[in-house]
Amino acid sequence: MTSETPISSDVFKQSMRLLAGGVCIVATNSSGEWHGLTMTAVCSLTMDPPSLVACVNRAAGAHGIMSATRRVSVNVLSHNHTSLAELFSSSKVKGPQRFDEKKWIEMASGVPALIDALAVLDCDVIQETVIGQHSVFFCEVKNARLQPDKRPLVHFNREFCAVQPVD
Ligand SMILES: Cc1cc2nc3c(=O)[nH]c(=O)nc-3n(C[C@H](O)[C@H](O)[C@H](O)COP(=O)(O)O)c2cc1C
Repeated sequence: MTSETPISSDVFKQSMRLLAGGVCIVATNSSGEWHGLTMTAVCSLTMDPPSLVACVNRAAGAHGIMSATRRVSVNVLSHNHTSLAELFSSSKVKGPQRFDEKKWIEMASGVPALIDALAVLDCDVIQETVIGQHSVFFCEVKNARLQPDKRPLVHFNREFCAVQPVD
């Protein structure tokens, strides 16, 4: 039997790196200015209402806008979007400068949609709960654009990876 000890922050971080995650860009619109960040902490919540959760660091540039506007898009990235994932987590390029107008369109609700995303989920924030440094945004999905023929981008152990079916 293995012994159990209280978890250190290093072991917690290492553990979470081993949890492979689909990579998304969560984006929002503040009076015509688009903001967004790369995220893996996005997961399905329930069917009724169709909803998901997104865990956003309260220091992120988009956080305050998500809280205020309560509208977000979740753009699920495909395996050829590594450079976009890096751009939207960059410490050098911030805010609206991350958006190339050739790659994004505005949805009817006003949130940005990545034209060639695997999926774009257009959401209303229905609740925000603060835990530590993060907000958990509970989001009701109102519309979706799907291109399921593409393959996903996954983040695992500090690397971007493509996935393939197990034989
Ligand atoms: C693969 C990957 C996954 C990430 N997942 C999250 C996440 O789920 N939540 C979060 O708040 N930040 C996450 N980040 C960090 C943000 O993308 C990064 O801090 C970003 O720069 C924040 O936006 P800002 O620069 O506009 O403040 C992730 C970064 C990477 C590279």
